[in-house]
Amino acid sequence: MTDASPGSVPPRIDDTIPQSARIWNYWLGGKDNYPVDQAAGDRFREVYPEIVDIARYSRLFLARAVRHLAGECGIRQFLDVGTGLPTVDNTHEVAQRAAPESRIVYVDNDPLVLTHARALLTSTPQGATDYVDADLRDTGRILAEAGRTLDLSRPVGLMLLNILGHVPDHGEAKEIVRRLLAELPAGSHLAVADGTNVVTGERFETAIKLWNEASTTPYFLRTPDQIAAYFEGLETLEPGVVPVSRWRPEPSPFEDPPEVDEFCAVGRKSA
Ligand SMILES: C[S@@+](CC[C@H](N)C(=O)[O-])C[C@H]1O[C@@H](n2cnc3c(N)ncnc32)[C@H](O)[C@@H]1O
Repeated sequence: MTDASPGSVPPRIDDTIPQSARIWNYWLGGKDNYPVDQAAGDRFREVYPEIVDIARYSRLFLARAVRHLAGECGIRQFLDVGTGLPTVDNTHEVAQRAAPESRIVYVDNDPLVLTHARALLTSTPQGATDYVDADLRDTGRILAEAGRTLDLSRPVGLMLLNILGHVPDHGEAKEIVRRLLAELPAGSHLAVADGTNVVTGERFETAIKLWNEASTTPYFLRTPDQIAAYFEGLETLEPGVVPVSRWRPEPSPFEDPPEVDEFCAVGRKSA
């Protein structure tokens, strides 16, 4: 892990430019953000109030997906790339609640996430967690460093939630997924979620355009077909590519949760 211990040189945090992890944290109701992030988050929300539901339904999807992988699918190792700032129910907490021996490696390139990494390193004694400070594109390094904690000859749950949209070119994002999956064995699973442009359309695009003008971490909406393309060659689990709010929602006597403009899927590598 990159050193985030007391006494080590603190990473450089720029609090003058809004950052993806910090705005996401603001929408989720967290406190790990700066006035510049709050202002950008509020501007976005004025144009597109649904973003708060998207952020929250997306975290609920993370919890349901990890629970499913650790439960029915028997996955005991997770690689969560684009972790974000610690919040309630981080991947290791959900996985280790289902199976305390689970091992989790987190990866992000935001210096503030690195300074908060200690909150992600609260493993059960039976399991393990680690944090890697790396760029998503550096797949060789991610896998090499993850290999210190995970046994990459055994199935891994690869979590890529709200990060592939930060790669401007969809072809490049697909190639990154391919490179990561190529090094994971059969039985591994992929979970992806990203903002789309099919439920609410124009207003979401406008808000994203404003975000991209203010941030150094631009984001690009995808179509559900582009999200499906990450799963080429995998078996996509039911219910397929759907809004995050509709992926195996908790049973309820009331109507289904609303559709939100962020689609997700979970798939299994069979060979
Ligand atoms: C919107 S947050 C999502 C957090 C979490 N995955 C979730 O869905 O709740 C996106 C995260 O991806 C990280 N990120 C963006 N581009 C990245 C890159 N090229 N390499 C590594 N991390 C990146 C950001 O720092 C941020 O923490």
